[in-house]
Amino acid sequence: MSLTKQRQLDLIETALGEKILNYLLNDDVIEIMLNPDTKLWIDTLTEGRKYTGTDILPSSALRIINLVSSAVETIVNKNNPILSAELPGTGSRFQGMIPPTVTNPIFTIRKKAIKIFTLNDYLERRSITEKQYLKVCQAVKDRKNILVVGGTSTGKTTFCNAIINEMAKYDNRIIILEDTQELQCSAKDVVFMKTTDKVTMRDLIKSTMRFRPDRIMIGEIRGGEALDLLKAWNSGHPGGICTIHANDCKSGLEKLEQYIQEVATGSQEKLIASAVDIIITIKKLGTKRYIENIMELKNYSKDYELFKID
Ligand SMILES: Nc1ncnc2c1ncn2[C@@H]1O[C@H](COP(=O)(O)OP(=O)(O)OP(=O)(O)O)[C@@H](O)[C@H]1O
Ligand SMILES: [Mg+2]
Repeated sequence: MSLTKQRQLDLIETALGEKILNYLLNDDVIEIMLNPDTKLWIDTLTEGRKYTGTDILPSSALRIINLVSSAVETIVNKNNPILSAELPGTGSRFQGMIPPTVTNPIFTIRKKAIKIFTLNDYLERRSITEKQYLKVCQAVKDRKNILVVGGTSTGKTTFCNAIINEMAKYDNRIIILEDTQELQCSAKDVVFMKTTDKVTMRDLIKSTMRFRPDRIMIGEIRGGEALDLLKAWNSGHPGGICTIHANDCKSGLEKLEQYIQEVATGSQEKLIASAVDIIITIKKLGTKRYIENIMELKNYSKDYELFKID
């Protein structure tokens, strides 16, 4: 590591302070959140979300955000008050925001998973039933396109990692597109790409097609890239996964339609029905995260033809 990088890391560590550093090291803590009222919250595996009793001054929070932004070579200011980055040296996802979009600087640090939960781990923890487990394995083997649906922090990305881990058993070239790198893949032939301020997810998907992908994954669908991804899945690159933020299967499909409408006329239900094969809904109840159901999407005529397959 260069001296400048090391110095940046040291400065960030000092700015974060002992309390936050300890939370970063504590395996039970999965998320660290600073609110505009200066209160620091954490989310833990064993107890869920709680206020830490610690307050972080707005000036300290601003310093942290500025240091992270300069480490990733972007600028945060009142015209560009949002920062999405990886917290250097940790691989954690860092999302920061400064006034005027909030009253005081805030950030949320989503820690990188310490280990990949495999589908077997889900089975052992009874987060997935045996039947669901077999259906997911079969869907991966058959190169079905899988949409993982769930609310905030339900475990969509973690479950995607479990599916990708299963996928690595097959000899495919995998391309993974994300805004910040959260997905992990043990396959030998894998390419990771990340969006930047100037390169959008739509740009990445278009470019991906020239990198000879077998399977294409997107961390999270959030806009018009939904259209490009479904077209890619539909045109000789099946066997992908993506996550979408919605509470159930039907709302996940409606969300896809809305995203497609941002860039095309019509909601393209037929394209959705032919590109998406399997929809897996994840739920969070207290601190427990589990697979609620698995639906197969067969067709669209008047409405989506969905069949529960678990
Ligand atoms: N099955 C699980 N067992 C234990 N911890 C889990 C499980 N699934 C997720 N987690 C933890 O919960 C946190 C949130 O998980 P994850 O990032 O997968 O959620 P998400 O639904 O993708 O969130 P977001 O909506 O922010 O993208 C992570 O810190 C992760 O390690
Ligand atoms: Mg996620």
